[in-house]
Amino acid sequence: MSTRVRGMGGHQSARMMKDEWLTPPEIIKGLGEFDLDPCVPINRPWDTAKNHYTIEDNGLKKKWFGKVWMNPPYGEETAA
Ligand SMILES: C[S@@+](CC[C@H](N)C(=O)[O-])C[C@H]1O[C@@H](n2cnc3c(N)ncnc32)[C@H](O)[C@@H]1O
Repeated sequence: MSTRVRGMGGHQSARMMKDEWLTPPEIIKGLGEFDLDPCVPINRPWDTAKNHYTIEDNGLKKKWFGKVWMNPPYGEETAA
C-alpha cells in the first residue's frame, strides 16, 4: 500500500487516514527556523526543522526542545 503525500494547502478529509499532510516549505521559511519537528515522514521531502523525529523514533517518547514545529499526524484518532 502506498502512502500519499500532500501539502497543507489542499483540503483533506480526516477520513483520508493514510495521507502524509506535509507543511509546505514556504510556510516554514516564512515562520523562521525551528529547532525540532517531532513528527516527520521517514523519507521527508524537505526539512521542517534543524532536528527531526520519525515514527521509528516515536516523537512522543523523545525529549522536545527549543522552538518546536508541530503539525501532528492525522490518523484514525482525528476522525473519532
Ligand atoms: C501530518 S504529517 C506532518 C509532517 C511534518 N511535521 C510537516 O509538518 O510537514 C504527520 C507525520 O507524523 C509522523 N508520525 C506519526 N506518528 C509519529 C510518532 N509517534 N513519532 C514521530 N512521528 C510520527 C507521520 O509519519 C507523518 O509523517
